[in-house]
Amino acid sequence: MTDPTTAELYRDYVMPTYGRFDLTLARGEGSRVWDEEEKEYLDFGAGIAVCSLGHSHPKLSKAIADQAARLVHTSNLYLTRPQGELAKLVVDLVGLGGKVFFCNSGAEANEGLYKLARKFGAPSGRHEIITFTNSFHGRTLGGISATGQEKVKAGFAPLVEGFVHVPFNDLAAVDAAITPKTAAILLEPVQGEGGINPTTPEFLKGVRALCDRHNLLLLFDEVQCGFGRTGDWCAWRTIVPQGVEPDAVSWAKGIANGFPLGAFWAGTRIAGPDADGKERGPLCDLLGPGTHGTTYGGNPLAATAGLTVLQAIGEEGLLKNARELGNHLMQSLEAMKLPAIRLVRGVGLMIGIELNDLPTSFGGEGLPSIRATKELMKAGLLVIPSGERTIRLLPPLNITKAEADKALAILKKVLGVP
Ligand SMILES: Cc1ncc(COP(=O)(O)O)c(C=O)c1O
Repeated sequence: MTDPTTAELYRDYVMPTYGRFDLTLARGEGSRVWDEEEKEYLDFGAGIAVCSLGHSHPKLSKAIADQAARLVHTSNLYLTRPQGELAKLVVDLVGLGGKVFFCNSGAEANEGLYKLARKFGAPSGRHEIITFTNSFHGRTLGGISATGQEKVKAGFAPLVEGFVHVPFNDLAAVDAAITPKTAAILLEPVQGEGGINPTTPEFLKGVRALCDRHNLLLLFDEVQCGFGRTGDWCAWRTIVPQGVEPDAVSWAKGIANGFPLGAFWAGTRIAGPDADGKERGPLCDLLGPGTHGTTYGGNPLAATAGLTVLQAIGEEGLLKNARELGNHLMQSLEAMKLPAIRLVRGVGLMIGIELNDLPTSFGGEGLPSIRATKELMKAGLLVIPSGERTIRLLPPLNITKAEADKALAILKKVLGVP
């Protein structure tokens, strides 16, 4: 009997929850990955905005191996040095004081934000969170309830109560949706799964002002756009450099290059009195002992991965690289005026290419985003589809100009089909 292929193992033993591409990846180095037949691809998806340092980064591989040989896991009943150091680094990068909680994924980091908002609003009878059309906040029950896309909710009713969706970048709609039950507003400064939609500066400033006026928390989901992807540690500062600060933020994805790690931060804003009128102190201390937790979150191995990634992003000048090569990619794509491209939008190395209807000469069937992704894959470039007609470029933050130009050449060849 011959061994089953990887595709046969998946077909027979892995739940069919994902629409996967017919590609089995075996190894990676920098911005390149290879399939089981040793065919090489340029990876401009980076595991959906995760591998900020690319694949097999020597510093990260060594740090993970060294820490694995020393101490992998202890539970959060004890202190470990890497978690403390990573928390300090995250607080320093945000630059507003406050404290951090570590978990294992983006959906879980957002669950922390929902619980923080509920705890904040509870004494005044407020629990609702306003979120946005086309947002994406993860696949837990709370996550799909928060997400402003019907397709993720289908078949899972009843959803978690208390999420209200309003049109993105529409300040009047937010204003109109605020009620005496509203506790918080949650948004992605740059929507990722929704097709790379940046907030406008006016919108971000306006939402902050509404939160101040109505005593609401402003929560940012930076799971996809955070920690360098937009060319700044904090994506919201690429939209408004100064003066608009959140009360709490969630991260995952790029924080540890693929080692499972999520986090959320809360600031020092005073939470207000409890039901008995007693002051509750700063927001970052609101979730006290016994209120929230996870077995693995921030274990020494995950925290070491996070520390190494964030330090390398700083040491290797990757914020600047993300800004410069993001601009180069976007400007070049616009200048090419390819018939298949309707619009290019993005910030840093978070780029959305909106496609026209593709001609029959293009090949394949189905949505333009999927057809284009498959054709680009055949030509040796991995990109990430988003919705019906957008493909995303989310390459490692350390791509070189030569790699960007190689990707542009493939895009030109494939999307230039008349
Ligand atoms: C903005 C945003 N929030 C949350 C999530 C969920 O993260 P995870 O898949 O790690 O649970 C994602 C994943 O794509 C995301 O893009």
